[in-house]
Order: sequence, then C-alpha cells, then structure tokens
Amino acid sequence: MSATITSIGIYHPEKEIYNSYFESFIDTSDTWIRERTGIERRFYTAPNEYTSDMCVKATLNLSKEYNKDLHDIDYIIVATSTPDQPMPSVASQVQSRLNIPHAGAIDISSACAGFVNGIILAKGLIASGTHKKILVIGADVLSKVTDFTDRTTCILFGDGAGAVIVEKADNNSLFNTITGTNGDYGKDLYLAHQNAPISNSEVIANNKLHQNGRVVYKWAVQTLTGGLHELARKNNVTLEDIDYFIPHSANYRLLEAIFKELDIPMEKCLDSVRLFGNTSAASIPLAWYSAIKDGKLKLGDKIMLVGFGGGFTYAGIYIKNNIV
Ligand code: COA
Repeated sequence: MSATITSIGIYHPEKEIYNSYFESFIDTSDTWIRERTGIERRFYTAPNEYTSDMCVKATLNLSKEYNKDLHDIDYIIVATSTPDQPMPSVASQVQSRLNIPHAGAIDISSACAGFVNGIILAKGLIASGTHKKILVIGADVLSKVTDFTDRTTCILFGDGAGAVIVEKADNNSLFNTITGTNGDYGKDLYLAHQNAPISNSEVIANNKLHQNGRVVYKWAVQTLTGGLHELARKNNVTLEDIDYFIPHSANYRLLEAIFKELDIPMEKCLDSVRLFGNTSAASIPLAWYSAIKDGKLKLGDKIMLVGFGGGFTYAGIYIKNNIV
C-alpha cells in the first residue's frame, strides 16, 4: 500500500523574542547567540496558550490552505515532549476540538525526532491497510520548560507547531527509513518531573529542560553524518542525488558542522532555527513549510528528513516532495 504527504500547515505564537531580550537578565549578547547558534529570533506562547492550542491552529491552517476535509481523518499522532498534561493526550484534545468523529489518537515522545517518527508510524499504518488518512503533528512549548537562569540552554528554544496529512495513494512517495537510539545519553538532555534516575544518574526534577550542550553537539554531528549516509544507502541513492535535506533545526552551527563533514553545500539544508529557534518536534515542518512558501521546494524534489534529540534518539526518511 502506497502513502504520500498531501498537505502541510504550521502555527507559531504571536510573541516574537529577539536575542536582545536575554541581555537584560543573563550574561550574554546578540553576537554570541548568533555566532554560536545562528538564532536571531524565536516565538513564545502566551501564559494561557498550550501545545494543543498550537496543534489545532496548525491543522486549521493546513485545512484552509490546502482545502482539506478533516472529517475523514482516521488517526491522529501528536509528537511532543511538552503535552498540556500527561493524560488526556494532546491528540485526543485535537480530535475533540476539530470534531474529527472516527479517529484513533496518540501522543508520541521522542523529542526532536518525534515528527519524523510520527511520519514513519503513519506510513506503517497505511502500508498495513488499517488506516487511510492520518494527521501527524509536531508541536512543543519549550518556553514553558526553559530554565531562564541557565544561559547555555535558555537562549536556544522556541515554541511552534507543524502538521501534515499522510494519505493512502496510488504512487508511493514515502520511502525507506532509519531509526536508532543511544539511551545511555538520557542524562545529557532531559526534562524530569519525578526523582527517578535516568541511565542510573540522579536528575534535577524541576520540570525544566537540562542539557549538556557539548555532548549533544558531538553526538549529533557523528550520528547525523553516519545516519544520512545510511539513509542514502538504504534508498539506493547518493547524497548528491538529494535536492534538499531537512534536519532537525537544533543549532545552525551544528548543522554547518554536519554538512561540512558530508561535503554538502548549506544551500541544500533547509532550516527553521534562525527564525524560530530550536522548536524540537516542530522544527522540521516549520522548515519544510517555509521552504515551500519561499518557492524553494518543487513538486517531486527528493528530500531527506532527519530528526534527532533527547533519548538520544534519531529517525530519518527519504521522501519525494508532493506538496507545494
Ligand atoms: N552567552 C554567552 N556565553 C555563553 C552562553 C551564552 N548564552 N552560553 C554559554 N556560554 C559560555 C560558556 O559558559 C563558556 O564559557 P567558558 O569558556 O568561560 O566556560 C563558553 O561560552 C563556551 O561554552 P560551550 O558550552 O563550549 O559553548 P558552545 O560553543 O558549545 O555552545 C551550545 C553552547 C549550547 C550553543 C552548544 O553546545 C550547542 O548548541 N549544543 C547542542 C545543543 C542542541 O542542539 N540541543 C538540542 C538537541 S535536540
């Protein structure tokens, strides 16, 4: 059974946060942030605005822009590390607020790899013949779990959401995938609300995001470099054949290091980090949508999505772009 992605929609909150915002309460500068991360701006949700609100708005934007009926969606997958609450799932809230009558609904937790894992799961459900039209959303409100006393992390993150519809199709455009995990690194990037140890290490359970930035950086460069080669090999293509890469937008400098290692020009790397910050599960759809709006991405372009993050875990997929 073949599957394709037929539409995309995004949402970002109204409040724009520029780098100068941080200069008033931590020892940092616009120059340091731009040079080390590439980030110029990010968006923060209002105090009463949560992940489910952004998911609903991204999906309504998708429906409006691509004239998509939401009524016959039969499964909803929301990738997020920042659900409104552990239960009910954000996906259940989306079902209710969008009046989708006959849909299964789950949230998945694989941090910045969540959106790609959602697409991989949707592809599998369609291939198995049990589902036909699946809404996959990546959304996070990282500003609500940011430790604003930690200058090494607080400057990185932003809020946003991106939604796609994965549908049964005559011609397949979702090809082979890669997935992998190094759970030993759980303690190097985490968000804990209980004192349970992670990978046998004690954690700070204050519901804020903790990160060992250098460890993440090193792992990401190594893993992504090897991962993209593996993804190409599994699809019988070369990296030169690929029109655009959409990696998780963690940090522009990190992406530059990966693409330098792979000898791929940065023009082929679509990012959202410079204008949205690191938005975790939302970063790939934000970059994808922006590239469509900028007229960069064309119908039939060969693209590779690859998400990576907390776990540590990663997921990638080779796609022929079917949305403009
Ligand atoms: N402003 C100014 N100086 C800062 C700073 C800030 N916001 N944050 C850290 N520094 C300082 C450090 O304290 C350190 O100072 P020191 O040399 O006096 O000790 C110096 O800058 C260098 O710190 P370092 O941690 O080596 O910086 P870096 O170049 O590795 O950049 C990150 C830090 C967090 C930007 C970088 O490690 C990174 O992006 N890692 C990956 C994070 C990521 O992508 N996470 C998401 C994964 S999904």
